[in-house]
Amino acid sequence: MSALLHVSDLKSHYRTQRGAIRAVDGVSFDLARGEVLGIVGESGSGKSTLALSLVGLLDPPGEIIGGEVRLEGKPILGRKEADLAAILGSRIGMLFQSPEGSFNPIATVGNQLLEALQAHGAGGREAAARAEAALALVGMPRIKEVMKSYPFELSGGMCQRAALAMVLSLNPTLLIADEPTASLDVLAQAELAQLFARLRDSVKFSMILISHDLGLVGALADRVIVMYAGKIVEEGPVERALESPQHPYTRGLLASLPKLNRLPADLPVIPGHAPSSVGRALGCAFSPRCNEAVSSCREGEAPGLRRIGPEHRVACIMREENRAEQSERKEGGNGTGSGG
Ligand SMILES: Nc1ncnc2c1ncn2[C@@H]1O[C@H](COP(=O)(O)OP(=O)(O)OP(=O)(O)O)[C@@H](O)[C@H]1O
Ligand code: SF4
Ligand SMILES: [Mg+2]
Repeated sequence: MSALLHVSDLKSHYRTQRGAIRAVDGVSFDLARGEVLGIVGESGSGKSTLALSLVGLLDPPGEIIGGEVRLEGKPILGRKEADLAAILGSRIGMLFQSPEGSFNPIATVGNQLLEALQAHGAGGREAAARAEAALALVGMPRIKEVMKSYPFELSGGMCQRAALAMVLSLNPTLLIADEPTASLDVLAQAELAQLFARLRDSVKFSMILISHDLGLVGALADRVIVMYAGKIVEEGPVERALESPQHPYTRGLLASLPKLNRLPADLPVIPGHAPSSVGRALGCAFSPRCNEAVSSCREGEAPGLRRIGPEHRVACIMREENRAEQSERKEGGNGTGSGG
């Protein structure tokens, strides 16, 4: 069966006075119907730029400079806004970190849900019924009251639920959620995670879930992509990529997860900072921070993604077939990033 979303060698840059920041640097993946794909990576690794590029919505100074994105076989990139709107229609819904950003502060939640539905061709009564059904689907209490409320009158968690209801009322084929729980308190985060799990099993839409929260991604996603400096460095089913990670960066991310009985200061962190991706360094972008680096990591092209197991791909020369030979040349690294 063909993929719902096909992404091939996608490249997006931000033009700055210091040069072009290669925020998305040759990303390729497929998303199947009904699949939940998690995207993780440190701040600045290019997750949000990738999300916006997928729907052709990157604003200046951002620019999609190459690659291909196809939704149900139809190319998305390089189209005029009106064409794009016709192709996307309501098929891709976006949910962002700040629920307030999904709403106009001076209109009621109900009116905004109705407007969105009417803009997509639903008549008055049908729109009202679909708005209420969507609010019920996200487990919203006191629906009539919420419809009459202004966004600021709702708690963060309720507002994010209402934003999700607005997106779901349009019956999207694909939901792209960029850090949907990051601005919420711990309880609201847990409630939203449970809601996503319930929806994943009942509604069966495809979803791209971008999150710093590896626990959330591990619990909800079928497959995960790990990004570093605009590239995918590891990709695979959650049970392989997160439970048996092979890239030193993924291992470092998992090792730095907070635990109840450890102060943040005690956690092993990946030393150094993610590069800004201006200019083109030789070899693997992670090498300055990698405790497995060998001299050949800093030579030639960046390592490409290679299959290391069923549906599991990693961009690291130490995971390639010639590992034994590479190990001999190991020169010792400077990091503590290996955690598993
Ligand atoms: N408007 C902009 N102008 C210039 N550079 C930008 C702009 N937006 C993002 N960038 C740069 O592009 C790179 C990727 O940023 P992006 O926001 O996509 O990362 P992210 O993984 O979503 O980070 P976070 O986890 O903090 O949301 C970073 O180096 C960032 O500084
Ligand atoms: S290619 Fe080298 S530097 Fe990069 S992750 Fe692998 S071992 Fe580390
Ligand atoms: Mg982001």
